[in-house]
Amino acid sequence: MAQIVPSILSADFARLAEEIKRVEQAGISMLHVDVMDGHFVDNLTLGPPVVESIRKVTNLTFDLHLMIEDPHKYAPIFIEAGADQISIHQEACRHLDATIHMIQDKGAKCGVVLNPATPIETLTDVLDIVDHVLIMSVNPGFGGQKFIPNSLNKIRRLARWREERRLQFAIEIDGGVDKHNVETIVRAGCDWLVAGSAVFHSADPAATVKEMQHLASEATAIRV
Ligand code: DX5
Ligand code: ZN
Repeated sequence: MAQIVPSILSADFARLAEEIKRVEQAGISMLHVDVMDGHFVDNLTLGPPVVESIRKVTNLTFDLHLMIEDPHKYAPIFIEAGADQISIHQEACRHLDATIHMIQDKGAKCGVVLNPATPIETLTDVLDIVDHVLIMSVNPGFGGQKFIPNSLNKIRRLARWREERRLQFAIEIDGGVDKHNVETIVRAGCDWLVAGSAVFHSADPAATVKEMQHLASEATAIRV
């Protein structure tokens, strides 16, 4: 069943615990946490102390998206802080295979993220070891950007490879997801849909998550 994964990037950081509780009520199981270092992307967000703090207020699975240089060095610190899943950018990893194994050996699930201009072929030789693949449908760094339609082709092709090679990885999308494109994205083969501004900038975040989750569930049911 495809799932909506709220991203706290667009939440009110002064009331993070409350914001998390609000979306938790909608019955989600994962929360997306965007970590930016001002080098890999032109924005700065949060670090391990914030992850450690929010770990104390929820049991949701923390899906960390590291938009940072040197993820090999920092991933263990975020796992220690409470991350359950770590997504690392292919573009930031010199020794991708080694970093994936290192993260998994430390007890976290590991995914690889691709920027919009990075071909899925760059993952051919790690698809059998990753837990998930995250396709960026915007250039990373900021919430509220417009969905890049080519990401749907990447999802479709990845889903086909997964089937052909009988692999298990989940497919995730991040950027510009809202209630208008949920159905198309799920039908392309996506399992986890990250949504930031569509959720937290809406009048009722819990109701929005429920509505998007309903659309995702319906689309999963008719996926061929
Ligand atoms: C963007 C982040 C996203 C962000 C998405 O670089 O990785 O997770 O929260 O925000 P929306 O859903 O507003 O595009
Ligand atoms: Zn993200």
